[in-house]
Amino acid sequence: MALILGIETSCDETAAAVYDDNKRRILSNVLATQIDMHSMFGGVVPEIASRSHLEKIGGIVSQALKEATVSLDDIDGIGVTNQTGLMGSLLVGVCFAKGIAWVKQKKLIGINHLEGHVFSAFLGPQGGFNDELQFPYVCLSVSGGHTSLYVVHDFGNYELLGQTLDDAAGEALDKTAAILGLGYPGGPQLEKRAKEVDNADFFHYPRGKVKKDFDFSFSGLKTAVLYDLVKKGAFDLAKGIIKEGLTSELQSKVASSLQVCIADIFVDRLQRVLTLYHLVKHVVFVGGVSANKYITARLQQVSAEKGVFFWSPPLQFCGDNGAMIAFIASYKMAQGQVADFTLDAVRR
Ligand code: KG4
Ligand code: ZN
Repeated sequence: MALILGIETSCDETAAAVYDDNKRRILSNVLATQIDMHSMFGGVVPEIASRSHLEKIGGIVSQALKEATVSLDDIDGIGVTNQTGLMGSLLVGVCFAKGIAWVKQKKLIGINHLEGHVFSAFLGPQGGFNDELQFPYVCLSVSGGHTSLYVVHDFGNYELLGQTLDDAAGEALDKTAAILGLGYPGGPQLEKRAKEVDNADFFHYPRGKVKKDFDFSFSGLKTAVLYDLVKKGAFDLAKGIIKEGLTSELQSKVASSLQVCIADIFVDRLQRVLTLYHLVKHVVFVGGVSANKYITARLQQVSAEKGVFFWSPPLQFCGDNGAMIAFIASYKMAQGQVADFTLDAVRR
């Protein structure tokens, strides 16, 4: 039996979890979000993020152990996100994990945050292992920091088919919501507004041109929205402020058109993958943006049309979390992929 502690501090969530390899179950999953600290700035402020991680990490790890009713002595390995994220934030998690691994003589496993999301697909309701998921599966991982499409053949064996060339989809939603004067994070606000106008496409924003079939580009989207608002007398470009032309109805129509645009882009890529890869058994949607019911329903529909199962893990495992890190760390540890104390944080 192996008990794994997972630590995640790559962006603005301080998270820790315990995974029991024997029971194949997440025993605890604790998280402190920093949304309130960053919302007044309209996005994540790296310096604030790392300072807050530093304050909270000890308490969050203790809480994760307590909720799992285990002590640090019972833990066999410590998985920590050491790559892809904000440097200062990653460093807090890595240094903390190294510290306790050193003192308690535990195995240390460095985890790529994106790999954590890809395999979070195996976390089912109540943290149990999702036995129904089969390889190969297609994984669309979409958050505020990344937008990537994979074919996953096995644990540790996956192909990156495409990714965003600029902004992540969540970032595009957050930035556009900021232009519209809606709060941060923008995704949930935009989803709510879009529903008010029946998720219709009013303004048909550009779907973004890319050279490679499976890549994405979202940076033009916020500019397209911005110039459209200027044209509609709803935004003053010179002063960088909203004008009275930005009615609540217009906000909702923009939100809805944006949501449809992003969903259309995902649907297009998914149709292409499923046409090309006939052996795919499942389509999996992970990352913070998978909280969006409209986008999820659209992807679900394409999967059904192609006769492929669709799955999105419970929300607590979709956004950034420690459970996905503990889970994939258990596989790496079993394969002997443990790190030494030179483990460092890597931004990309
Ligand atoms: O995975 P996540 O929690 O953190 C990282 O960015 O890594 O994802 C956060 C992103 C934000 O951009 C947020 O606006 C978006 O997920 N998001 C949503 C929804 N809830 C969160 N986007 C669309 N609809 C939602 N309901
Ligand atoms: Zn993430």
